[in-house]
Amino acid sequence: MALLPILRYPDPRLNKIATAVDEVDARVRRLIDDMLDTMYAAEGVGLAATQVDEHRRVIVIDTSEERRSPLILINPEIVWRSADIVLGEEGCLSVPAIYDKVERHSAVTVRALDRGGSTFERRVEGLTAVCVQHEMDHLLGKVFVEYLSPLKRERIRSKMAKRTREEQQEQRHRA
Ligand code: NI
Repeated sequence: MALLPILRYPDPRLNKIATAVDEVDARVRRLIDDMLDTMYAAEGVGLAATQVDEHRRVIVIDTSEERRSPLILINPEIVWRSADIVLGEEGCLSVPAIYDKVERHSAVTVRALDRGGSTFERRVEGLTAVCVQHEMDHLLGKVFVEYLSPLKRERIRSKMAKRTREEQQEQRHRA
């Protein structure tokens, strides 16, 4: 088990565009396992490789209550979107303690490779559909707060900067 450090907004590495995985090899499977450990430890419902500074098209999601049903998406593509749009509150492990409303398709069909390297399609709705769209944005270098107004985004930036400063001070005091 390995926990990976999660990049925090507004780290510019969160804006990098991930590249496709050529081959689902042992290295990719290791990344998936570490991402699952990291997501479960952080009590998140989804994590994109971009957030752990690995710029490959890999996502892990688990929206189940028992937290034992991971959905692994390698090179995901959305092949169908519902016309129906929902406005829901979102958060992100890279923007801790910040929640705001974002519009998403209420259901999507995603095509991806699984951890064995086989192609599959899955139709998802509700929280899982929101999560798939949110994590796929990460692979394109987009964080959900970038959908918000410039004013809100500025407020979030200063909040995050303040928190990072406070944490650094705490660390210095402990050292
Ligand atoms: Ni996120």
